[in-house]
Amino acid sequence: MAKTASKQINKAKIKPLRFDTDWQYDPAPESAAAAQIEPEYGLFINGKWQKPDSGQYFDTINPANEKTLSRIAVANEKDVDRAVRAARNAHEKVWKKMAPAERGKYIFRIARIIQEKARELAIIETLDGGKPIRESRDFDVPTAAQHFFYYAGWADKLNYAFPQKKLNPLGVAGQIIPWNFPLLMAAWKIAPALATGNTVVLKPAETTSLTALKLASILQEADLPPGVVNIITGAGATGAALVEHPDVNKIAFTGSTSVGKIIQRSIAGTNKRSTLELGGKAANIVFEDAPLDQAVEGVVNGIFFNQGHVCCAGSRLYLQESIAKEFIRKLKDRISTLIVGDPMDKNTDIGAINSKEQLNTILRYIQIGKKEGAAIHQPACSLPKKGFWCPPTLFTDVAQSNRITQEEIFGPVLAILTFRTDDEVIEKANNTPYGLSAGVWTDKGSRIFNMTRRLRAGVVWANTFNKFDAAAPFGGYKESGFGREGGLHGLSPYLEINS
Ligand code: NAI
Ligand code: MG
Repeated sequence: MAKTASKQINKAKIKPLRFDTDWQYDPAPESAAAAQIEPEYGLFINGKWQKPDSGQYFDTINPANEKTLSRIAVANEKDVDRAVRAARNAHEKVWKKMAPAERGKYIFRIARIIQEKARELAIIETLDGGKPIRESRDFDVPTAAQHFFYYAGWADKLNYAFPQKKLNPLGVAGQIIPWNFPLLMAAWKIAPALATGNTVVLKPAETTSLTALKLASILQEADLPPGVVNIITGAGATGAALVEHPDVNKIAFTGSTSVGKIIQRSIAGTNKRSTLELGGKAANIVFEDAPLDQAVEGVVNGIFFNQGHVCCAGSRLYLQESIAKEFIRKLKDRISTLIVGDPMDKNTDIGAINSKEQLNTILRYIQIGKKEGAAIHQPACSLPKKGFWCPPTLFTDVAQSNRITQEEIFGPVLAILTFRTDDEVIEKANNTPYGLSAGVWTDKGSRIFNMTRRLRAGVVWANTFNKFDAAAPFGGYKESGFGREGGLHGLSPYLEINS
């Protein structure tokens, strides 16, 4: 009797529920009204908002609907010079003379105000850059505050970090940041510079300047002495003018490898110090003994987090041959449940691509992948009409020499390859011009140690991916740049250290 019943159930062919057609979350939108965005922003120089000498402004848009959010000033060479002079003056007259514990108090205050304004900052970040509100709220803004807290703590303890050494700040730091983690990158750059007694001229990326400008008003509220941090906006020419200014002592840059090379050439032969954090093409390596479901989550997080606009994104997946088929099936199932769309909705997993230019770059690479003969898989999902969107994209049948394996795409596109042995995957994983990060998924501790020792990458995650902490150093090998940010290591690039 029981046997017949179970046979009948089997025969009934239970159709699995499909997320996209059978059930959906109700919308859960965050409110744009909770953030104050001015219709126009000047330059933040010497503690005040100033009109640009250029007289020029440009629009910043919301990439999810292409609507203009605000007008932003273009800083020309004269504006850059004004900002550098303000920073120099503040360094000589105020900041370097101030007791380190007092400097620390200002940095703590900035951290606390960021926490108080966390919701507003998250909303502005999402509106201006297109990343899901869940990420700005749960990752970008709290991690930015954490960096200020962390480095505030170091301000009066530098002699413990570098015992028996004579320490001096470098002076004025010129800092240029990209559009993928706008507020967080500003925090990575500003917090260690201030803690070590330097003053700053910061230039945010042209598509995502709004949270840096909001940070300027936070610095005012924290009563930071005028000129200690100056925030100037504009595109590549503004960045180049800052790099070339003769009175800048240090350049800290995060962005593309090509601009990193331009900066290197431009400061060659000068006394300027530099740290460059550039592109990446991280390998996420899954062994047959790994917890597969957990690894699927890690791989999804590694490449689809922030639309793949992550220098350390796990954009290459190496699967051990014996589990490749099963893993790819699980991965396809998982990505069919990802929600692509309105970044302001708290359920959204994949938001808008940051700009039309970046979308075109990604689409060009998808065409290249197809032409190279790789098999493409994209789940069925309906994309909004306006704005810039790209569904999660998997490529299988990929060769190590393919451009989609070698070059940074900076979008939600994953190249999947296979391997048999540890030696083979080390060889393949290290075989790109980059070396920023990598991931290893295995049950064996000894294998983790073997891999982390031999992978040429600044960060190697084991059984996790894209985990950050203010206390952990971050930075690359090879064309991914040099110098470390974060942690104790992040202090020395801003100090002159003598015995
Ligand atoms: P980019 O390197 O041009 O922009 C980064 C920053 O550098 C921006 O603030 C920009 O205004 C500034 N900049 C541009 N030209 C400059 C110059 N000559 N001198 C000084 N500063 C300059 O990056 P872009 O064009 O926005 O993105 C292109 C590619 O770069 C992306 O597709 C991605 O592959 C990579 N990228 C990597 C990032 C990372 O986190 N490592 C971040 C952003 C982009
Ligand atoms: Mg924008």
